[in-house]
Amino acid sequence: MAVLVTGGAGYIGSHTVVFLKEQAEEVILLDHLQTGHRQAVRGDAFYEGDLRDGDLLDRIFTEHDIDAVVHFAAHSLVGESAADPLKYYENNLYGTLCLLRKMIRHDVNRIVFSSTAAVYGEPERLPIREMDPTRPTNPYGETKRAIEKMLHWCEQAHGVQSVSLRYFNAAGAWPGGEMGEDHDPETHLIPLVLQTALGERKEIAIFGDDYPTRDGTCIRDYIHVIDLAQAHALALDRLRRGEGSGVYNLGNGEGFSVREVINAARKVTGREIPIRVTPRRPGDPAVLVASSDKARSELGWQPKYPRLEEMIDHAWNWHRSHPKGYGSRRGEWGISR
Ligand code: UFG
Repeated sequence: MAVLVTGGAGYIGSHTVVFLKEQAEEVILLDHLQTGHRQAVRGDAFYEGDLRDGDLLDRIFTEHDIDAVVHFAAHSLVGESAADPLKYYENNLYGTLCLLRKMIRHDVNRIVFSSTAAVYGEPERLPIREMDPTRPTNPYGETKRAIEKMLHWCEQAHGVQSVSLRYFNAAGAWPGGEMGEDHDPETHLIPLVLQTALGERKEIAIFGDDYPTRDGTCIRDYIHVIDLAQAHALALDRLRRGEGSGVYNLGNGEGFSVREVINAARKVTGREIPIRVTPRRPGDPAVLVASSDKARSELGWQPKYPRLEEMIDHAWNWHRSHPKGYGSRRGEWGISR
């Protein structure tokens, strides 16, 4: 039996592929490499292409004995989604619709779906629980929520079982820095802070220091990318055991402010990291922190790297050895832990 990983050349996808390989899974990748990286491709077979290419999906499902799909492939920039919503409806929502059609046709009825904390919008209470209202404030979160609903109805009609994993702030890298985060443009806090530590950027902007938080900067729940990968493997196990569909938050349950992240990075890197306080970024909630009790109790999920400094240390290993991302990979790739 093999697992199809869509978006397997992206940040979270590539780490999950290696994690699944370590668990002796046969892993087939599909990625159109618009945001993923050829150098991050691992697994047993790789198909370069799009979810909306029906002939390609027919080929993949025919050539391999696939019993489950782990579905990462999506655009994932909140700001871009607000500027170009149809790009997100087209790629994320319609792309998933095409994938589901082919899964149903080929009798594949298990899917682990990459959802997001962005489905919640402004939280009413903290920590956020899975049953809390979902009111996305941008098209990115809206398309992810629409896909969760599409999965629900496909279960009713066609028996497709799904686990949707709502990630909070993915962070870190493979511990030795062999794989890591490489977005263009980069918008995420930790990589930007570390690029500043490296001198690749002059300073890090703090988007607002007048929020109602302990130091005035936004608080987020950072979760190590390998712990996310572990959750995908556990979700697959759950589906294969026939324990049914579910929706789970994935976070640490502890929040860190932007200033706390920068200070932790100063400690890990030993570098100064200049800052500049700028106005708020539109649409940023003050605090987003997850309750992941459900994932712990139902999936048996236990984060291995919950400490912020450890996440930053691993990310630092990656950035130091790849100052320009995958384009500047030094030497041959190998995994160490
Ligand atoms: N931030 C800065 N300066 C920067 C970049 C970010 O101060 O240069 C701040 C942001 O305002 C925010 C925090 O750092 O308060 C984290 O920002 P990120 O852009 O790293 O992450 P977000 O919390 O905005 O977004 C993440 C994911 C999204 C997902 C969202 C769910 O990247 O895909 O969580 O809430 F939708």
